[in-house]
Amino acid sequence: MNLPCQRALHCAVAAARAAGRLMLRHRAAPKKINLQSRYDIKLELDVRCQKLIEKTLLRSFPDSALLGEEGLAGPQESPLRWVVDPIDGTVNFTYGVPHACVSIALQERLDAGQFSTVIGVVYDPFCNELWTAIRGGPARLNGKVIHASRRKKLAEAVVAIGFSKTRQSLNESLPVFNALVPRVRKIRMMGAAALSLTYVASGRFDAYIEAGVSLWDIAAAGLILECAGGEFWHRPLPGGRQYRMIANNGLLRAKLERVARSARKNVLSS
Ligand code: IPD
Repeated sequence: MNLPCQRALHCAVAAARAAGRLMLRHRAAPKKINLQSRYDIKLELDVRCQKLIEKTLLRSFPDSALLGEEGLAGPQESPLRWVVDPIDGTVNFTYGVPHACVSIALQERLDAGQFSTVIGVVYDPFCNELWTAIRGGPARLNGKVIHASRRKKLAEAVVAIGFSKTRQSLNESLPVFNALVPRVRKIRMMGAAALSLTYVASGRFDAYIEAGVSLWDIAAAGLILECAGGEFWHRPLPGGRQYRMIANNGLLRAKLERVARSARKNVLSS
C-alpha cells in the first residue's frame, strides 16, 4: 500500500497535541472517575481525549479503523488502523503526578490478521516532549534524532518495570523485581508504559519490562524504540489481548531473561 506517511504523522501529532492540551487544562481539576478496580482507574477525561483524537484522525483518514483503550471507531475491516491510548499513565494523572502521555500508532494490516506499526507518536504534555517515528526512518524527540543507550552491563543499567493491573501479574513480577533490585544501578517504576519505552529509546533508561501490557500502551513507543536502535521484544499472552515485554537497548535481553527465569524458579521451588 502506498501510505501517505508524512500526512499521517502530521495528523497524529496534531491529535496528540490537542489531547495533551485537554489534559493540561484539567491538570489541577478534580477528576471524574468512570470506573475503578483494585489496581486501575478509568476517567471521564480518558473518553473525552479519545473522542478528540478520533475526530482529528478520522476526519483526515475516514476509511481507517481505530482501536483505542476507550473503544473502537471506524470500519474495523480497514487495511489501516490507529491504535490509541488517550491517557497513558491514568493513575499518575488522577493523583496529580505529571507523568502521563498520549500514545498514537498507525498500523498497516498484513496477511493472517497481523499488523505492522508504521507510525508512532508519543506526547508528554507536562514536559512538552514529542517522540515520533516512521518505520524505516530515525526516531526523534522534539525533532532531534535519538538513540538507545549502549550499556551492556546490568550493574550499570537503569531498568523500568511495570506491574500491570492484576494480582496475577503482581505475583509474577514481584520476584523478578526483588531479583533485579540488587543487580542493576536503579529500578524505576514510572506508571506510564509508553513513556518508559520512549525513555529507553532516548537512552535515559536501558530497559523496560512488564508482564502484561496492552497493545495501545506499547504500539507507538515500540516502533519509536526500534527506530532508535533498541529491541522491542514482546509476545502475546494467552487470549492475545496482552503482551509480555522485555524492551531494551538491544544489549540486555539475555541477561534480564536469565535473572527473571531464575527468580521465578526460586519462587516455584520454595
Ligand atoms: C497503564 C500504565 C502502567 C502500566 C499498565 C498500563 P493506562 O496504562 O501504562 O504504567 O503498568 O500496564 O496499562 O491504564 O494508564 O493507560
